[in-house]
Amino acid sequence: MKALILVGGFGTRLRPLTLSVPKPLVEFANKPMILHQIEALKAIGVTEVVLAINYQPEEMLNFLKEFEAKLGIKITCSQETEPLGTAGPIALARDKLIDGSGEPFFVLNSDVISEYPLKEMVEFHKSHGGEASIMVTKVDEPSKYGVVVMEESTGQVERFVEKPKLFVGNKINAGIYLLNPSVLHHIELRPTSIEKEVFPNIAAQKKLYAMVLPGFWMDIGQPKDYITGLRLYLDSLRKKSSPKLASGSHIIGNVLVDESAKIGEGCLIGPDVAIGPGCVVESGVRLSRCTIMRGVRIKNHACISSSIIGWHSTVGQWARVENMTILGEDVHVRDEIYSNGGVVLPHKEIKSSILKPEIVM
Ligand code: GDD
Ligand code: MG
Repeated sequence: MKALILVGGFGTRLRPLTLSVPKPLVEFANKPMILHQIEALKAIGVTEVVLAINYQPEEMLNFLKEFEAKLGIKITCSQETEPLGTAGPIALARDKLIDGSGEPFFVLNSDVISEYPLKEMVEFHKSHGGEASIMVTKVDEPSKYGVVVMEESTGQVERFVEKPKLFVGNKINAGIYLLNPSVLHHIELRPTSIEKEVFPNIAAQKKLYAMVLPGFWMDIGQPKDYITGLRLYLDSLRKKSSPKLASGSHIIGNVLVDESAKIGEGCLIGPDVAIGPGCVVESGVRLSRCTIMRGVRIKNHACISSSIIGWHSTVGQWARVENMTILGEDVHVRDEIYSNGGVVLPHKEIKSSILKPEIVM
């Protein structure tokens, strides 16, 4: 089987992190987002992943080359010269996706995280005989997603409404699809939206089916959701009694610590923290609900909560960093500084406190 991952887009909502690397390469739980997906696809027998991309393809491919060999999966690029939306890229990659076997192929949004129940999805797809299957999940705030109205017993989709202004239902498109090659008849090679044009069309022909995704789900394309997503992901590791979770008297709840990170005396870490490779957390540090990317140094007695600390940054002694502070790559926060929701661009030095949420350029 083959799969296409929709990688395009500039990831503006995840700036300043995406000023340093393309969104799919931003680590989530100490692993680039896209690797979570590629590993799940490989696990159910996908042999080739096509990245539908419209900028920086070299960087992505160079990075992923190592994993092609490691995982034993072919990774190729299909590059657009203009953004083709969420459906156009599928038409562009048609020759890579279709090999005459008639097998369906996966399409994934690159910013969704879940347990990827892809095996269950293949079984579901085989069972209904329609043209396309989509995963759906229930959310409290459906208006920022694609909403699906379906017949509960069969999963047949009656309506698909992208980002509805009025309430139509609370089951939303999770951004994970399994499509028969015949779906390509509905997609033209031009900028076009699978959500606004293709799915409503297939639904009208009663050939679109939805499966409620078991387990957790999150679109981690913006900081607040990224932090919530980490909590859900770590919860699911806990349910599976994953040996990856840290333990010890200095750990509260679910925490990931890369084995090359150093943690000093008297720290208290957790819940819902990920500490990346090469990080140095000095003594007496308090961390909760945060991600500390590769190579960061957190100095003595700093306190960080609900924040993301970008690669190779430093946080000074007695600093307090909280409330969706996002530090880009190589940011230096001086001793005793307070950051309340600062969004700081790469390579900055923070010399005075940030008292209210703002972007620091
Ligand atoms: N190659 C390519 N070209 N990819 C693109 C383009 C493009 O022009 N535009 C967007 N993408 C990719 C994005 O990188 C992302 O992986 C995916 O398509 C979806 O785009 P988003 O910008 O993240 O859309 P969204 O989050 O507002 O909504 C989508 O995802 C929701 C679930 O998270 C829709 O599919 C909704 O229906 C869905 O509920
Ligand atoms: Mg998204």
